[in-house]
Amino acid sequence: MLKTINCGELRPEHDGQKVSLAGWVNRWRDQGGVIFIDLRDRTGICQVVAEMENAPEAHALASQARSEYVLQACGRVRIRPEGTANAELVTGDVEVLASSIKLLNPSKTPPFYINREDSIDENVRMKHRYLDLRRPAMQANLMLRHRAVKFIRDWLDERGFVEIETPILFKTTPEGARDFLVPSRMQPGRFYALPQSPQQLKQMLMVAGYERYFQIARCFRDEDLRGQRQPEFTQLDLEMSFVEREDVMALNEKLMTELAQAVAPQRRLLQTPFPRINYQVAMERYGSDKPDLRYDLCAVDVSDIAGGCAFQVFVDNVAAGKPVKVMRVPGMAAGMSGTRLRAVARGLEDLARTVGGKGLAYMALDSDPQGEVKGPIGKFFTIEQRVALFDCVGAQPGDLLLFMSDRREIVRYITDVLRRHLAAELNLADPDVLAFCWVVDFPQFLWDEEGQRWDPSQHLFTMPMPEDVHLLDSDPGSARGSQYDMICNGYEVAGGSIRIHDRGLQEKIFPLIGQDMEEAREQFGHVLEAFEYGVPPHGGIAWGIDRVMALLAGEPNIREVIAFPKSQTGMDVMSQTPSAVAGDQLAELHIRLDLPEDDGAD
Ligand code: AMO
Ligand code: AMP
Repeated sequence: MLKTINCGELRPEHDGQKVSLAGWVNRWRDQGGVIFIDLRDRTGICQVVAEMENAPEAHALASQARSEYVLQACGRVRIRPEGTANAELVTGDVEVLASSIKLLNPSKTPPFYINREDSIDENVRMKHRYLDLRRPAMQANLMLRHRAVKFIRDWLDERGFVEIETPILFKTTPEGARDFLVPSRMQPGRFYALPQSPQQLKQMLMVAGYERYFQIARCFRDEDLRGQRQPEFTQLDLEMSFVEREDVMALNEKLMTELAQAVAPQRRLLQTPFPRINYQVAMERYGSDKPDLRYDLCAVDVSDIAGGCAFQVFVDNVAAGKPVKVMRVPGMAAGMSGTRLRAVARGLEDLARTVGGKGLAYMALDSDPQGEVKGPIGKFFTIEQRVALFDCVGAQPGDLLLFMSDRREIVRYITDVLRRHLAAELNLADPDVLAFCWVVDFPQFLWDEEGQRWDPSQHLFTMPMPEDVHLLDSDPGSARGSQYDMICNGYEVAGGSIRIHDRGLQEKIFPLIGQDMEEAREQFGHVLEAFEYGVPPHGGIAWGIDRVMALLAGEPNIREVIAFPKSQTGMDVMSQTPSAVAGDQLAELHIRLDLPEDDGAD
């Protein structure tokens, strides 16, 4: 070994010991006869001192060192002279007086500072990701990820779970995205699909009797990369036999809680046990099936009151079955002048219009909730109606009340967009808090207007709630699935369900989602066949590990917890992937390109 101890491990107790260190030059200062080098390795930084008088050769070599050069330094540890300790370094009480220095490798000047927490252009970071990953913040993220995955593996192992790898070259497993296809050379014209998840295979493992399976699994989805998505990402994929919904949820809640407490104790869990929210309630209150519960802005239905006021828009809407809802923003109007209030309200109204809203009426409560309000629609409500309204939403002096009235789904969009906007504007979401919840009782299917068919709201293997199975024939839109999503801070971090384990029931799903039986047998024949050989009742879940890690690390984007992520356009910027391939490679696969005019493979 070129090192006998790591840079970050040096302490006063090593005083007098001869050590050998190796790492990168984090900083250097040449003070004539003495050169100070901050040497950095994965564990931290320590100071190496090269004195011309004591070790002229080491001093001469140290004088050549520049940022990011790789060095080996040998010498004796000593306590730093009185008054020169560095309280910012854990190794700051000591230094190594170099007797010899070896330049192991030089470095060009990096395109950005590795030793400073500057904001760096993302593209430059990605192009030189190997340098970006040297930065302590990135090292901490990847180390945290390692510890988290190890924690998960050990925890599940202790509870009888077996980690089993499943193939990457497989057949389409629909999770709602496009597949990445891989051409087969040996079977020209045929393709593998990279798995969107190991869903079918883990169910096969249940048929095979493994009972408790998990895998840290790579998944591939060709989809738009908005909102914490990557084309390849990692799941904790898990499946259990002989369980009910409650069992899977309880186990995963315990694992998530213990994981967060073990690896990110500085993040506070807002509520345990995790609250459970019915899907319809979540959509009505928060306008989203993944609400951020760090703040409690929500929409309250006031149709009963507003339907009787004198504002014609509300009266007509309520008569037509369209709700009137109010979002109370605590204290937002306090101390605002009329002009300022109108400007703020106009800004929010414009935002509502971006998602189809026709307006956004408001009332601002001055001081006494019985008295006057500011805003254009106050005059349409009698005193009694106002009091009832304030009561209904819990209004306090200084609050701003925002009124949304439209088709139910438009009101949901407005609710969601207002919540996110106001939370950001008013700093309502504490980054150190983790607000987990479960969303349950999803509809089994959602109506797809374009395709004029039902779409599974999760996937086609989800079991309907037992009491709703009969609705598949009469009223599929009302059937609830046995699905559960784990949400944290506005992100879906995990999703799963109890599965159908009966061939007859599974076959019923295909025509409902517009898939012809012939096609279904072609695609899922192996599943249907397996379902004839004694299938245990089973269910499972998959976590988005990247999302969980971003939340635990307090990072705003999953790219910060992935060593080599793809850019917004699906590129690996460092290696310029995807790239063109040689003609003979394509010929071997019997593939000919037919590219759009201006989009040549360059
Ligand atoms: P689902 O499709 O909900 O379920 O995926 C599970 C979790 O994976 C994460 N996730 C992603 N993370 C990053 N980039 C992406 N493109 C991406 N897509 C999904 C989310 C999500 O909650 N087979 C089912 C699970 C099951 O039923 O057991 C499945 O894959 O955090
Ligand atoms: P108007 O009478 O059109 O000037 O509207 C009075 C107020 O009601 C304005 O603040 C509008 O933004 C608001 N408004 C109009 N239509 C709606 C609606 N469908 N939902 C909520 N507010 C509305």
